Amino acid sequence: AHPVVHRFEVTKSTHTRLCHTKSMLTVNGQFPGPTIYARRGEVVIIDVINNADQNITIHWHGVKMPRNPWSDGVNFITQCAITPGNRFRQRMILSDEEGTVFWHAHSDWSRATVHGAIIILPPKSETYPFPKPHAEVPLILGEWWNGDVQQVYENFMAEGRDAKVSDAFLMNGQPGDLYPCSSQDTYKLRVEPGKTYLIRMVNAMMNYIMYFKIHNHNFTVVGIDGAYTKPLNTEHIAITPGQSIDFLLEANQPPARYYMAARVYSRGAVYVPTTGILEYTTENYTSPSSSPPLQLPSFPVFDDWAASSHFSRNLRSLADEKHPVDVPMNITENLFFVLSINLWPCLEDSCVKSDRLLASINNISMLMPDTDILHAYYNGIKGVFQPNFPDQPPRKFNFANSELTWSQGHPQFGTAVYMLEYNSTVEIVFQGTNLGEGIDHPMHLHGYSLYVVGTGFGNFDPVKDPPNYNLVDPPLMDTVAVPRRGWTAVRFRANNPGVWYMHCHFDRHQTWGMKMVFIVMDGEHPDEKMLPPPPDMPRCQTPPLDLVF
Ligand code: C2O
Ligand code: CU
Repeated sequence: AHPVVHRFEVTKSTHTRLCHTKSMLTVNGQFPGPTIYARRGEVVIIDVINNADQNITIHWHGVKMPRNPWSDGVNFITQCAITPGNRFRQRMILSDEEGTVFWHAHSDWSRATVHGAIIILPPKSETYPFPKPHAEVPLILGEWWNGDVQQVYENFMAEGRDAKVSDAFLMNGQPGDLYPCSSQDTYKLRVEPGKTYLIRMVNAMMNYIMYFKIHNHNFTVVGIDGAYTKPLNTEHIAITPGQSIDFLLEANQPPARYYMAARVYSRGAVYVPTTGILEYTTENYTSPSSSPPLQLPSFPVFDDWAASSHFSRNLRSLADEKHPVDVPMNITENLFFVLSINLWPCLEDSCVKSDRLLASINNISMLMPDTDILHAYYNGIKGVFQPNFPDQPPRKFNFANSELTWSQGHPQFGTAVYMLEYNSTVEIVFQGTNLGEGIDHPMHLHGYSLYVVGTGFGNFDPVKDPPNYNLVDPPLMDTVAVPRRGWTAVRFRANNPGVWYMHCHFDRHQTWGMKMVFIVMDGEHPDEKMLPPPPDMPRCQTPPLDLVF
C-alpha cells in the first residue's frame, strides 16, 4: 500500500477568543491543528510547507521513528528550521504505537498554537483490548495567549524573567464559560445515556500539569502515550504536558448537563479552569439549558503529589500474550540525572543576571548548537557537541534546606551529549530537587518509550528503592512526571539508532536549559543502522536565539 500523504501548510490565520482577535501560526488554518489518523505500523508522509513569516519545525511526539531521526523534527537537534517559503517532506514511521499521541511544532515556542492529535488505530483485522466504544472523542488541552507567542518568547529570551502566562486554558480550542466573553466558546460533548465513549486526551499546553474531571462521572484509563494499560478506575485524570491519556467515559448518570473542567495541578497565575459541557441527549429528552446551575467538579488540592502521580504509581501495562513487556533486566548504563532550577552563574565581574533563572540536568544547562547535532554526528563535523554528558552527580540533597539546588545553584553551559552503544540497556533515575515553589518536571525522551519502573518521594535510595521496582508490568510512557522533591526511574533498551532529544516538556524549563541529547550508535547489522538522510533536509541558516550574553 502507498503511504498516505498529508499536506501541512503552516500559515498565519486569524482567530478570536476572549474578545481578542489575532493572527497566529497554525497548520492548515486550524486551531487546534488537524488530527492525523493512521493504523499501527503504517508509514505516513507529511509535506510540511512553510507559508508563514517565521521558521518552523514539526515533531511527531511519542512516535519512535525507528532508525529515522531525520524526520523527528527538532530544531538544532535533528534538523534546522524550515524557513519561510520552503518545505520538508517528513516520513512518520509507526511501529508498535497504538492509541493517542500528538504532533507539535518544535522550534521557539510555536507549539503553543501549532499542535494536533495523532490517533493510531489497530490494524483492520484487530480490535481494542477493551469493549468497542460507541464513539471516540479527541480532547486537546491547550492555552490561549492574547499576545503574539513569538513576541512573548523573544521578550522572555531577552529579559529572562518568568514567562508571561497565557490568558486562558482551552478544551479543544475553547476556553469555556468561566472566562470573560467566552460563553459561546464552550466545548460541548453530546452523549447518549448508557453508551460508552473513548476520550483521547492530549495535554498540548506549554507549562501546566492539569487535572481533568467531569462532575459525577468516573473514568477508566485504558492507555497512555500510545500504549495500552490495564483498565484503571479513577475520579480524575492528571496529565502533564507531553502526555496523552485514553480513557473510557460511561454515560451512566441521570440525563442532564454536567460540567467537565480542567484545572492546574500546581499553584499558578491562571486559576480559572477551562470548562466544557457534557450533555445527555435522547430522542425525546433535551437537557434544559439553564437550571439547575451546573456544578464544578471538586478537584484535588494544589500540589497534591499523590493525586498527580496516581497514574505513574498505579498504571500497569497490559503485559499479556499480545502485548508482551520487554523490561531490560541487566542494566549496562546506570544513569542518575538531577533536575534543577538554577541561578545564573556570576562571571568574574558581574552578576547582572542574578535575577534570572536557568535550568539544568546534572548541572549542565544546555545551549543549542548552530548546526543540528544529527547533521554534525552523521557527517563527523567536530566542535558542535561534546560527547561527555556527566552521568553521576552527587546523590544527596537536603530537602529541608532552602537552597535552590546542589553546586550553589550555578550550572555550567554546554552542548554535551551522552553516547550509547547500540542495544545497551539503560536505567535513568531522575531526581527532582526543586524546593519551595518548585514543580514536578514532565521529562520526555524522543525515539523511545520508557518503562516506568518506580517513583517515590524524597531522595532516591540506590539500595532500598530498586528492590521495589515493578519489573513485571510497568507502564510504557514517553513523558514521565518527576515529583518536585522525589524521583522516577525508567528503563529502555537503546535499539533505535539516532540522535534523540530529552527535555522537560515545560517550555520555560526547556528554554532555561533542562535538556540533553542521547546519541545511540549504529549496530552491526544493516537493519541496526540509521536510514540515510532524505534529500530535502533543511539546512542551518539562522543560529539559535541564546540565553547567553
Ligand atoms: Cu513533545 Cu521534544 O517534544
Ligand atoms: Cu521542568
